[in-house]
Amino acid sequence: MNSTKTFYVTTPIYYVNGMPHIGHAYTTILADVLARYHRAQGDDVFFLTGVDEHGQKIQQAAEDAGVEPQEQCDRMALHFKNAWEKLEISYDFFMRTTADFHKKAVQDVLQDLWDKGEIYEHEYGGYYCVGCERFYTTKELVDGKCPQHLKKPEFIKEKNYFFRMSKYQEWLVNYINENPGFIQPESRKNEVLGFLNGALEDLCISRPKSRLSWGIELPFDKDFVTYVWFDALLNYVTGIGYKQDEDRFDKWWPADYHLIGKDIVTTHCVYWPTMMKAAGIPMPKTIFAHGWWMVDATKMSKSLQNIVKPLDLVDKYGVDPVRYYLIRDMVLGQDANFSEEMFIKRYNSDLANDFGNLASRIATLIRKNFGNNIPKGNNPGLDEREIQTNGEKLPKEVQKLISEMRLNEAIETILSYVRSINRYMEMKAPWKLVKTDHEKAGLVLYTAAQGFCIAAKLLEPVMPGKICSVLSIFPLKSENESWGNLISGEELKEFQILFPRIQAAPDKPAPEKNMKTDEDSLNLISIDEFFKAKLITAKILEAEKVLGTSKLLKLQIDTGSDTRQIVAGIAEYYAPEQLIGKTIVAVVNLQPAVIRGIESNGMLLAAKKGKQLQLITTSDSIEPGASVG
Ligand code: MSP
Repeated sequence: MNSTKTFYVTTPIYYVNGMPHIGHAYTTILADVLARYHRAQGDDVFFLTGVDEHGQKIQQAAEDAGVEPQEQCDRMALHFKNAWEKLEISYDFFMRTTADFHKKAVQDVLQDLWDKGEIYEHEYGGYYCVGCERFYTTKELVDGKCPQHLKKPEFIKEKNYFFRMSKYQEWLVNYINENPGFIQPESRKNEVLGFLNGALEDLCISRPKSRLSWGIELPFDKDFVTYVWFDALLNYVTGIGYKQDEDRFDKWWPADYHLIGKDIVTTHCVYWPTMMKAAGIPMPKTIFAHGWWMVDATKMSKSLQNIVKPLDLVDKYGVDPVRYYLIRDMVLGQDANFSEEMFIKRYNSDLANDFGNLASRIATLIRKNFGNNIPKGNNPGLDEREIQTNGEKLPKEVQKLISEMRLNEAIETILSYVRSINRYMEMKAPWKLVKTDHEKAGLVLYTAAQGFCIAAKLLEPVMPGKICSVLSIFPLKSENESWGNLISGEELKEFQILFPRIQAAPDKPAPEKNMKTDEDSLNLISIDEFFKAKLITAKILEAEKVLGTSKLLKLQIDTGSDTRQIVAGIAEYYAPEQLIGKTIVAVVNLQPAVIRGIESNGMLLAAKKGKQLQLITTSDSIEPGASVG
């Protein structure tokens, strides 16, 4: 679909004085998800992110590292770029404020404002917080301390240059009131209006070189550099050609979303609009401030050493689950608590169980019963029509939630559709139905597979890698998420398990359970207790030794409704090749365990006495999935 609609989204540009952490990653993933949704809708998208390279913090970080500031910037810009590559961030341009085109454009803006009398020179004394790189008024200080850093700022007196911000106060209040979508969510808008209740002062936009040399020189006074926020905020327009290429700038501006964290609301919602107003730049459509990711209800900070590093998580669990968790578990606008335990819970319930299992069941059943070809979806009944109607409605519902920035709800809506397909599968039990009505079983699998593809496609912006690989196994007519694009009669490609389950507690391996032996005491149980265990026949498809142990084998078994992995302590009794093709008895409703780092989803039955062990097997004439009891 071709459309002339443009979508321009930005993230803050991050300071290059520290490594990217989960907070930076969050805003950037959020922007990426929005960019990908809009691209999928056919919009022409520009996604800008980058780094903020000037100012005291950076000069200090370079000094601490014993390098020149530019080298510090070059090194750190690479770290951010690498992190975004690992997180599959599809930005269109990576902004660096040390780039010549940016410096030149900032100087042009400054010169214009100076020429128009919007900037003036003044001797000034004020409370300066080095951490924030800004002066605070006494009113803004809390107990005489900077509210962000909880440190007493220094009182500094010097000549500086000031932007006449105060003169735009009334205009800004009116603009915010007349454009309710300008600052979102509502709570942040009210916070800004509250701030604007008091008198707005002019903004000091320079720093004397004697105090700070690492910045963009003022075009009208070479003894001063530009205040870093004045330089940084302009990246949103210089990054798309402002003062360099009018056509390019006009194509993208005004921005649809400036995404920011709640820590930088004043600079974005007061400084930036007044700067734009003075420079004659139209206002962006929305400035959206999300909450913070907290750890144990505390903001992450270097001093507390509670910083969550996004790349460590990616190395451990893969990029798609990390992206999924961050977008699924933050209600936009509110704070959210990060915990690896919650991450694992979310992963196991949504990704391994609901989503991954559905794909695996569909693929296994089609392979086993339909020669790996997509069955026909003829003669749908009421239940199939319901799955179809809901699947057809889903893209619009998701789109609406995304346009309202309710991304977590959009994901939940997709997942609840996936769960409804799982219930449908349970109800229809195509693994049984196939024995009595092959065509009906085909219809069920077609319906489930088609519904799955629609849900998967809608999750693609959140988990681009995994979704691309799972969708590539299905023969689809078109790239979009419409009912009927799955081609009956065409082959399903080889399926790989999407999201293997993770053990419940991070970093604590589940105890290796030995097989029960005849020495164990005999406790009497009721028949109901016995039937809680789901015993079925299963065929061993693959077997291999687990490295580093002499006891364990890793098996892939066909249970009739899925292919799953189990780890069994039988390596001393069977060679892997002896096992392939055997039909065994397995318990398939055990909680998953991780044994020596390998996931095990079930247990096989064996008879053991003394040094002898024999698997309980059945003849090959019984199909996998037959119940034992
Ligand atoms: N350089 C300025 C921004 C200039 S934009 C013109 C800056 N940089 S920063 O490196 O400190 O990044 C701040 C941003 O990182 C926040 O606004 C937010 O987007 C993100 N996060 C940093 N910590 C965060 C959390 N704990 N949780 C969520 N996001 C937060 O400020």
